[in-house]
Amino acid sequence: MNTSVMLDTGAATRLDRELFAWLGSSNSSNSSSSSAVGTADTFPYDSLLAHLRAVGKHFLAPELLERLAGCRELAGWEAGAEPSAAFLTRFLDVVLDKHDGRYDYQSYTALSLLRRPAAPEAADTERPDWEELRRHRDRTVLLLLADLIEFERAAADGCPTDPREMLPESGVLDKRQRLAVRVMEAAALRALAPGVVDPTAVAATPGRTPAGELAAAVLATATGQERLLLTASVQPVYVLHDEYLFLRVLQSFEATFTFMAGALDQAVRQLREARPGDAAIAVATVADVLKESLPLFSLLATMQPESFQIFREFTDGASAIQSEGYKTFESLCSRPGQARLDSAAFTSVPRVREAVLNGRPTVQGSWQELIAEHCPAEADRTSVLAAAQQLEAVHQRWKQTHYRLAVRMIGTRTGTGSTEGVPYLGAVIANRLFPAMAQQPTGVG
Ligand code: HEM
Repeated sequence: MNTSVMLDTGAATRLDRELFAWLGSSNSSNSSSSSAVGTADTFPYDSLLAHLRAVGKHFLAPELLERLAGCRELAGWEAGAEPSAAFLTRFLDVVLDKHDGRYDYQSYTALSLLRRPAAPEAADTERPDWEELRRHRDRTVLLLLADLIEFERAAADGCPTDPREMLPESGVLDKRQRLAVRVMEAAALRALAPGVVDPTAVAATPGRTPAGELAAAVLATATGQERLLLTASVQPVYVLHDEYLFLRVLQSFEATFTFMAGALDQAVRQLREARPGDAAIAVATVADVLKESLPLFSLLATMQPESFQIFREFTDGASAIQSEGYKTFESLCSRPGQARLDSAAFTSVPRVREAVLNGRPTVQGSWQELIAEHCPAEADRTSVLAAAQQLEAVHQRWKQTHYRLAVRMIGTRTGTGSTEGVPYLGAVIANRLFPAMAQQPTGVG
């Protein structure tokens, strides 16, 4: 396939006109010192995204990038006071990541757009509990995968939208929808109104809920802001259909890691407050949600390796080894060994590494302190150790499946995160989340 810049002149001209008009109206609203309220709301998101998806982010023209940098500067003036201007600034940061020389995994996956606004240094008691975090994860994953189903359905119905090159055959498009449903069902049973998903049917045969109906039910509840967020967060680097799937799967895992890290943080606090029973529930829930998410890998395995090998040429420098959510989750279980902390695994996430080096408490460490100082009831001891072992087992499955997927997709090629690729992933399987807790018997000793 010829990977040269694809021309989309009609759409590009329309976009140019709209951007000029937007810049003109923003300038006049600022120069008359009236508030630019609403200005960010009228930004031509749809035209820009349509163009970006038709040519690929890697191939945006230099003049367009300069113009967008000007738009970002204007939006930045209002970003402190106006949520819509703050969103527009973050959105343009994602569009301009390569132009700015800041391109990485966070910007490739548009995580700054999907993340819930950070609570300003919330006190322990004000941090959201794991149930609230799981609600947020469920909603995000449902929206992301419902949107993916719509994208795949349009292609299956013969009306593909961009990115649309190298369309897989229709059987693959149908399989994708079924696998997306498989991941959605558990979240849908918790989050959607009763009746949308049949719990008995799911228990008997998972993945059979009609994909179109489930996606429509989810998207019918989306707010205007959520719809904007969904469209703004797909910024493929190239023009191949499969990259949409890749982005949505990464984002769904990231929403899951965010929940896992938050719930484990709560488990640590519960152990330090000598509440092992509550901590066990939080850790077991983390294991359950990770288990529910494993079919995301089966979904991604439907990606055509030949597509991936083409578009990954333009993702170089962005690798999930830079995932802060994953490394936060890992390092909340127990303190990683010094060799791992000094390897690319943690030097790729400097903020997480620093938190570990500053002595952030962990589930395993807090548990060991608890059993040294108190004598937890046998039932609590059993449930904490069982939950840790459950999470360990699911995480081992996660790593093994990830390894197999990488073998299929890249074979002997190096990783985009500067490791040697598959051999790195093979080696990390030996690591354990709770090395000291695995040796403790769960029953009466
Ligand atoms: C086409 C599918 C995938 C391939 C070929 C792949 C390949 C790789 C490779 C080669 C690495 C090593 C770092 C590097 O050099 O890039 C890596 C690391 C990693 N990947 Fe993937 N990956 C895939 C999908 C995913 C998905 C869907 C996730 C979920 C977010 C993910 C999460 C991670 C994480 C967290 C690491 C760091 C692991 C560690 O440091 O222990 N990967 N991946």
